[in-house]
Amino acid sequence: MQTYKLAVIPGDGIGREVTPVALKILKKATNSVAEFVEEHFELGAEHWAATGGTFEHPESGEVLTDETLEAIRKNDAILLGAVGDPSVPSGVLERGLLLKLRFGLDHYINLRPSKIYPNVDSPLSDKILGRGPVDFIVVREGTEGLYCGAGGSVRTGSENEVATEVSINTAYGVERTVRYAFELANTRERKKLTLVHKHNVLVNAGHLWRRTVEKVAPEFPDVSTDYLHVDATTIFLVTDPQRFDVIVTDNLFGDILTDEAGAISGGIGLAASGNIDASRRNPSMFEPVHGSAPDIAGQNLADPRAAILSAAMLAEHLGLNDAGAKIREAIDADILEFGTAKGRSTTQIGDSILSRI
Ligand code: NAI
Ligand code: MG
Repeated sequence: MQTYKLAVIPGDGIGREVTPVALKILKKATNSVAEFVEEHFELGAEHWAATGGTFEHPESGEVLTDETLEAIRKNDAILLGAVGDPSVPSGVLERGLLLKLRFGLDHYINLRPSKIYPNVDSPLSDKILGRGPVDFIVVREGTEGLYCGAGGSVRTGSENEVATEVSINTAYGVERTVRYAFELANTRERKKLTLVHKHNVLVNAGHLWRRTVEKVAPEFPDVSTDYLHVDATTIFLVTDPQRFDVIVTDNLFGDILTDEAGAISGGIGLAASGNIDASRRNPSMFEPVHGSAPDIAGQNLADPRAAILSAAMLAEHLGLNDAGAKIREAIDADILEFGTAKGRSTTQIGDSILSRI
């Protein structure tokens, strides 16, 4: 029996409803092979307000202290619900909590699977869906690109304002991402890797990414590679999504493409993600893509399946592949029977999946 230390951050809103459900299912699926020692961290809007945060003085509240970050770092993995509330100014929790965790724990891979399940409504037409299964995964670089805060503004607010956002791409950062994507593609049935960029215009970063893929490719002779510009990719995601297996791309393009991927695959209730330090020096964090959904929070209405799929990814990341597969099979069976979540409560969906494990 292997023991793992698990940091749990339920967060706010529906995060507090879906996380316990995911946890219960993770434990049942792993009960014969692993034990999770949980440490719960009360972080998010409520914690910020309780420690003095107000809309006028957001800095008075505590978001994520360095001590808490160090306590989280001591774990083997992190399960996060969602954070956010209208009472908190935009950016406070995103930067202070989510980005601080992502950068502090070097989560350089943002992993987002996309699968269109049978019996789930997708906005794509039957004609397109009839061409076969849609099952791909986006490997988005998570710590560089346009999102690392390089830039600034001068003469701010004047007619002569100058604002810059600089995209940072290091050979080190690109290579570790590309390598991860090749390794992942190599484990999948179709073994196909598509690099998405815009190297006809973004010639500096784009060609670094292209050359890196070309450099690593010979180490993975079974993986076929392909390249698409990001604008063309947005078209193919809706006209020919079956062509994709593993997509590797930078931080900004990955952010945009994964929203589109979520939209075609039938909803936010099924979109899971991993924030991964593949070097395994820091714990990786798994979370549903959705937010805290204040509009439905506290009503037992949230679809817990995105959180449950995130727990399956967490299990697989720890090498508990059989448990991950058990969770996925239970979700597949539930979706096949009930389709989208309409009319079912968080508890009902959770119990249905739990009973199938
Ligand atoms: P949201 O994802 O919370 O909600 C968008 C819409 O989808 C809402 O109508 C909501 O009811 C619905 N929805 C979301 N998850 C659902 C689920 N599991 N089952 C059924 N319906 C679901 O995004 P929104 O409204 O933009 O953001 C709300 C708060 O969450 C904000 O404070 C935002 O900053 C935060 N947020 C946090 C994230 C995180 O913790 N990683 C990610 C996205 C948003
Ligand atoms: Mg986004």
